[in-house]
Amino acid sequence: MIAVNGLCKKYGSRIAVNHLHLNVREGEIFGLLGPNGAGKTTTISILATLLPFDEGQVTIAGYDLVREAGKIKPLVGFVPQELALYPTLGAWDNLAFFGRIYGLHGALLKARVSAALELVGLSDRAKDAVRTFSGGMKRRLNIAAGLVHQPRILFLDEPTVGVDPQSRNFIFEHIEQLKATGMTIIYTTHYMEEAERLCDRVAIMDAGRILALDTPQGLIALLGGGVIYASLSAAAVEELLPEIRALPHVQAASIQDNRLKIETQAARFALPKLIELCNMRDVPILSLEMLEPNLESVFLYLTGKRLRD
Ligand SMILES: Nc1ncnc2c1ncn2[C@@H]1O[C@H](COP(=O)(O)OP(=O)(O)OP(=O)(O)O)[C@@H](O)[C@H]1O
Ligand SMILES: [Mg+2]
Repeated sequence: MIAVNGLCKKYGSRIAVNHLHLNVREGEIFGLLGPNGAGKTTTISILATLLPFDEGQVTIAGYDLVREAGKIKPLVGFVPQELALYPTLGAWDNLAFFGRIYGLHGALLKARVSAALELVGLSDRAKDAVRTFSGGMKRRLNIAAGLVHQPRILFLDEPTVGVDPQSRNFIFEHIEQLKATGMTIIYTTHYMEEAERLCDRVAIMDAGRILALDTPQGLIALLGGGVIYASLSAAAVEELLPEIRALPHVQAASIQDNRLKIETQAARFALPKLIELCNMRDVPILSLEMLEPNLESVFLYLTGKRLRD
């Protein structure tokens, strides 16, 4: 549905997207994960025809993004990271405004606005001014605004930021309903558990590049059973290395940047064995970090950075 080849985008001399390659399949939920400034918003803004780019080829639903943007526009919906709603207008009027931008009017406009309100569970608040809405309700209306023209592809830019857990679940359910209709969904987030739950495939992005792209399970498998990093005094590490390698649940151990890196079959079982060994040999552990096999750890492993929060 989306094919991106060598996409580059600069803002002045700053490179925001750096030779990006990716393919998104029809009907999948595709997650774009990355820290602040990774280039997520820039990338999806380009794909949604909202921002020009410098280099590369992009096709969407078979249309060329440069030459056939007019054909692509009606196929895509974009839900921005910042709320884009008119606070003094009612929910219905907000959606009608966005519907008219897409050329809807009359009975069709009414039907589409009602359907979008229904989908995000706000039909009973249709007439109320948006400024009287809770944060979660505004988020849901923001999503509905990207849906009134019934796009085949929906870009959602961090749709759950600042939303309580209940509204977040509500949003997940809407997204899963949309997927069930066959819609292709591209979802940016820095919440790993969201990506793990929702996405068919996930790309991990940092500094304008994609570092890894796979199913959440495939990415997690990169870590095996988890990795332990420990700092011991330099002399002790050399001495202990053979014994550490022989510990139960340990697959491999090496020294990396003055730290001991232990790849395990099950980090949480290997850890107490390591501590036991160090105690027995009277070797102090100066620092210790355990990466359990989840997306959060994969991200840290690949980028050396934590996500926000
Ligand atoms: N309008 C702009 N003018 C200049 N530089 C920009 C502009 N928009 C983004 N950038 C820069 O491009 C890079 C990528 O920004 P982008 O907003 O795409 O990242 P992001 O992954 O969406 O980050 P966040 O998680 O904070 O939303 C950053 O270095 C940012 O400073
Ligand atoms: Mg962003």
